[in-house]
Amino acid sequence: MDKQNSERNRDSSAISRVADILVCPKCSGQLKIKPDEILCLGCGSKYPIRGGVPLLARLGTSDTWSTDNGKSEISSKAYQEQYHDIVQAEDYNKAYKQKLFKRMSTAREYSILQRLLRSQGHCGVILDLPCGGGRLSPQIAPFTDLLVEADIAEGQVFYGKRNLSLNTPQIWMTASAFHIPFRNESFDGTVCCRLCHHLPTAKERQRLIKELLRVSKRFVIMTFFDYNSMKNMLRRIRQPFDHKAPKMTMTINEVRRQASENGAKLIASPALAFISSGHRYALMVKDNNRL
Ligand SMILES: C[S@@+](CC[C@H](N)C(=O)[O-])C[C@H]1O[C@@H](n2cnc3c(N)ncnc32)[C@H](O)[C@@H]1O
Ligand SMILES: [Zn+2]
Repeated sequence: MDKQNSERNRDSSAISRVADILVCPKCSGQLKIKPDEILCLGCGSKYPIRGGVPLLARLGTSDTWSTDNGKSEISSKAYQEQYHDIVQAEDYNKAYKQKLFKRMSTAREYSILQRLLRSQGHCGVILDLPCGGGRLSPQIAPFTDLLVEADIAEGQVFYGKRNLSLNTPQIWMTASAFHIPFRNESFDGTVCCRLCHHLPTAKERQRLIKELLRVSKRFVIMTFFDYNSMKNMLRRIRQPFDHKAPKMTMTINEVRRQASENGAKLIASPALAFISSGHRYALMVKDNNRL
């Protein structure tokens, strides 16, 4: 067997580890995994497998899940397309490694993420969505037997798959957090870092939390930009003078309410920093979690 064929077989056998929980992002129908594509037995959609990566991202925002006039609204549609190119993905991932301030905030981020994951015990399978180029994967991997890495952007996923090699098995794919191609409660937990603050409408932020909690059996760890953070307060004070666009924020109470509407409790919401960052981590634990 030549090298290309053996790589293809290895990749499709990796995907088959999640065959039982994978569903169509359009109709939630059952999928049939073939060597080069995935076929939906419900609606007939076909999803290519390129370079071992199933392309299951369903693009689009509120117009794809609600019947109201979402199309005319501001949305994160342009952001969904930002990292399709691997060069842009590479710039994003290198910036985190090179810039001193980002390196310092990343160290703090690692310790918060590890503490929250440790509090939930070891997992069978965790979803990292959006995974970007796998910046946080080495922190998540020790807490699970299998790590599913997904992002809407092909560039990010290919960058991560090419540059990251961990002891924990990983499965890479494209997927939208608004249409996660997995059954309800497929994962022990889901980690969703640095997406919420790119979503400009409450409708998108609510959809995100609903989808994350739908596919998670036990917990969700998600970052959001805190409306009441010092960073955001200073930005609001300066806004009449510098006219900078407002940040896309949530309050802790809004996160708590969204968690509760989707069968979970907000257990912790540690801030990444007091002054230099407005990001917070939210740990939402499902009401039926028996840990
Ligand atoms: C700032 S990066 C964060 C990546 C990673 N979690 C991290 O902390 O480094 C945000 C990522 O969200 C992805 N993205 C944007 N919209 C998305 C959506 N609707 N569903 C899934 N991923 C999305 C982008 O492609 C980008 O890689
Ligand atoms: Zn379908």
